[in-house]
Amino acid sequence: MSTAGPVDVPAAFAAAYGAHGADEGRWIGELPRLAAEFLERWSLRPDGPAAHGMASLVLPVRRPGGSPAVLRLQQVRPETAGVAAGLRAWRGDGAVLLLDHDEASGTQLLERLDAARPLSAVADDDTALELLAALAARLTAVPAPPGLRRLGDIAAAMLAEAPRAAPSLADPDERRLLRDCAASVGALLDEPGDRLLHWDLHDGNVLGGEREPWLVIDPEPLAGDPGFELLPAIDQRWDAVLAGADAGRTVLRRFDLLTDALGLDRARAAGWTLGRVLQNALWDVEDGRTALEPTQVAIATTLLRHRSG
Ligand SMILES: Nc1ncnc2c1ncn2[C@@H]1O[C@H](COP(=O)(O)OP(=O)(O)O)[C@@H](O)[C@H]1O
Ligand SMILES: [Mg+2]
Repeated sequence: MSTAGPVDVPAAFAAAYGAHGADEGRWIGELPRLAAEFLERWSLRPDGPAAHGMASLVLPVRRPGGSPAVLRLQQVRPETAGVAAGLRAWRGDGAVLLLDHDEASGTQLLERLDAARPLSAVADDDTALELLAALAARLTAVPAPPGLRRLGDIAAAMLAEAPRAAPSLADPDERRLLRDCAASVGALLDEPGDRLLHWDLHDGNVLGGEREPWLVIDPEPLAGDPGFELLPAIDQRWDAVLAGADAGRTVLRRFDLLTDALGLDRARAAGWTLGRVLQNALWDVEDGRTALEPTQVAIATTLLRHRSG
């Protein structure tokens, strides 16, 4: 990549993200221009090949003084609108630092971390989960800044949707599971919480840093109960869960480790985790699926059985 030439958008990212719809395709088409615009506006020099996940293009850059950073391009959606507010509220404490931001396009200039050293590359499961839990405890101790989307609204919308979605599931046990998840959320609706949540806190969204050994990236911030933060840490490395003697036991061990580290009431945390399963189930139905993910079924079944134990 050169400063003068167009920015290369990785073909795999363009194809996968663009396939979501016309809006997403248009945004992919605009990316080279958008990247060039911000390289110029913030006087950045490209410094290596682009990285990406499912939803962002991340360009390593150098700032005018030569310090390393990354330019992160991400479409503004309700889930991503709070990225800057969330990162500012965390002030780099356990999370990547926001160096600059453009509200209109959602473009971010971030502190450069070590992309070659994600927490997902730490081989030992328990070590990785303990590190993640410690980060989750710090992040969710921070009160949410004003203006973020709120778990109370998200939960109310899910409860309105659940009765329409349940009949789309082919298996009566899964229909019952969806309704049980909804009932669990319904019981918590008048206490939705007010902490700053990351929403996508799994080992792929934690990178090695210099200021701190591990720093969190890629938040989709919302205001809510920390119990709503646990599911991505419970269902990560699912192959390792299945390799164990008893998937239910592993789910419970992870749940216990997380609730202990965050100091959460187990019943409430189980209820909000079932809320995450409900959220995933509603998205699956919206996408035309008629069965739930086995992973989600395993987690929900285990928590429904043991939530107060
Ligand atoms: N601050 C950063 N420093 C270095 N690399 C980063 C940084 N942020 C993201 N990356 C790289 O870009 C990838 C995608 O970034 P991420 O923010 O997780 O986007 P997505 O929303 O697509 O998952 C990461 O997995 C990592 O390889
Ligand atoms: Mg990511």
